[in-house]
Amino acid sequence: MSISFELNGQAVTVDVDPEMPLLWAIREKAGLTGTKFGCGIAQCGACTVHIDGIASRSCSTPVSAVAGAKITTIEGLSGKTAQAVQASWQKLNVVQCGYCQSGQIMSAVALLSTTPKPTNDDIDNAMNGNICRCATYHRIREAIHDAAKSL
Ligand code: FES
Ligand code: FES
Repeated sequence: MSISFELNGQAVTVDVDPEMPLLWAIREKAGLTGTKFGCGIAQCGACTVHIDGIASRSCSTPVSAVAGAKITTIEGLSGKTAQAVQASWQKLNVVQCGYCQSGQIMSAVALLSTTPKPTNDDIDNAMNGNICRCATYHRIREAIHDAAKSL
């Protein structure tokens, strides 16, 4: 089945099983490998992308559900909120192994887009589904506050 959507500002059409997870359409069909596979069951957040601006788990979203939608992956993040988050991530050396971090950044940017001055509770709630095996949670929280301050 042919399914069309916008991926990082580009019109994309994929010919796939409509039940294929969006994650595989992004990685295998579009060749964008910044979005990671962790658990495959919406429990870790490694596969987080924005669907029409909402942080969403691409491993558990069938590609047929995004027909006509605007998808943004880590490769396509742009704008001042994304730049502020990326700058704070670098400044505070958030990343350890890095595997979870594209998902973390996608969730952080989505949070700051709707909640420009998040409290610790706001951050914990928004980032709750993003697991980090390296336990960078403290630095992630500080970096989100730092990015909020700079915006
Ligand atoms: S791979 Fe999607 S939430 Fe873990
Ligand atoms: S930085 Fe290693 S899993 Fe998060």
